Amino acid sequence: MDKFVVQGGRKLNGRIKVSGAKNGSLALMPASLLAPGTYHLSNTPNLRDVWTMSRLLNSLGVFCELNGNDLFVDSTKVTSFEAPYEHVKKMRASFYVLGPLVARYGQARVSLPGGCAWGPRPVDLHLKGLEKLGAELSLESGYVVAKSSKLIGNKFHFDISSVGATGNVLMAATLAKGNTLLTNAATEPEITALARMLVQMGAKIDGIGTSQLEIEGVDELKPVNQETIPDRIEAATFLIAAAMTGGKIELTNVNPYHLTSVIAKLEEAGCEIDVNADKIMLEMSDKPNPIDLIATTYPGIPTDVQAQWTSLMLAANGTSKVTDTIYTDRFKHVPELIRLGADVEVVDNSAIIKGGKQLSGAIVMSSDLRAGAALVLAALIAEGTSEILRIYHIDRGYEDFEKKLTSIGASIKRVKTELI
Ligand code: UD1
Repeated sequence: MDKFVVQGGRKLNGRIKVSGAKNGSLALMPASLLAPGTYHLSNTPNLRDVWTMSRLLNSLGVFCELNGNDLFVDSTKVTSFEAPYEHVKKMRASFYVLGPLVARYGQARVSLPGGCAWGPRPVDLHLKGLEKLGAELSLESGYVVAKSSKLIGNKFHFDISSVGATGNVLMAATLAKGNTLLTNAATEPEITALARMLVQMGAKIDGIGTSQLEIEGVDELKPVNQETIPDRIEAATFLIAAAMTGGKIELTNVNPYHLTSVIAKLEEAGCEIDVNADKIMLEMSDKPNPIDLIATTYPGIPTDVQAQWTSLMLAANGTSKVTDTIYTDRFKHVPELIRLGADVEVVDNSAIIKGGKQLSGAIVMSSDLRAGAALVLAALIAEGTSEILRIYHIDRGYEDFEKKLTSIGASIKRVKTELI
């Protein structure tokens, strides 16, 4: 197993090219099940979750080859309709294959994901939405078994705005007979990008980018080539890294519009930011101001950024509060930050951060992807050496994380370890 060894106290300065969005690719890849044929998905991030999705699609008979950041997919011969526990337990986004399989092939057997590191994370909305379209669902030995001779368009309201459920039901609705109206649909850029790909494939979707999606079902779709949007969470992570070290960074291959709320918060925290087409420049000359943050649905601050913001606030002189309204238990990074000397208390779904204390290097453990990133960020401002264990979590969602950080002046090394 690998760990990161980080020497704190360096200012970050330089340019980073942002990778394609992990959550974007994880939605686009299963869409290939909707239309047999070959796809080229460019700007695909070369990281563990994409490999896991590739392996899952392989197990269904779909050929996937990732060459650098070019993903070639051939879904001509789907030979299995089962997403085994082995894959789904590694990555919840595996559940995305359910909608396309039942819509295109009339059958699917997909393992239920179970809990995750920060709470139960149900899939009831995926199931209710597909049932509304006429899929017959049953639960057998931990698997959702779905059948349908032909899905039928219908109205479905998501009680909670859900990225995954919107993606799943949207994909299914494209091949349903008749019209579907989805309300309170997720508007996250990765879902908008999925909808755009589906339209390229021949789907009829109105209201893209809004919470109301109207889909007129079509008989068949065709394969396409598609570029994955930039990763807004990776971008936010590097902006925060530069801000907390009092550094200067230029991000390229980024969509600043997707980061409007994050940029506004960073400016409140005292960063100077310029945006220009597909670039973001950030400079921070002082300690950050203590700024509260509430993670919510798009276009609000993403829950996937709250852990990193908590680390930023450790550098602020004053008290701030970070609240997560999406995943109310997502604070596994806090006890590890405390091991680095942070003064943070979790109260209900908020972290109360008393910033300004000098952190000191320690051995800490990642519990999930963004928690892991938050620990690396905190280690960047800690005195001395920190070791971050279980970095396979970080590898799930950041492409070349340590290489990118090293390129802007961080001291971070990947080292093999016996510690787990
Ligand atoms: C996606 C992202 C994840 C991000 C999250 C929220 C991917 C692969 N992952 O996860 O990185 O943190 O969006 O932006 O894109 N919910 C239900 N029932 C359901 C589904 C969700 O109650 O059937 C609830 C969840 O518990 C949560 C909220 O809805 O409170 C939003 O979750 P959701 O948007 O579905 O997250 P994911 O799609 O799993």
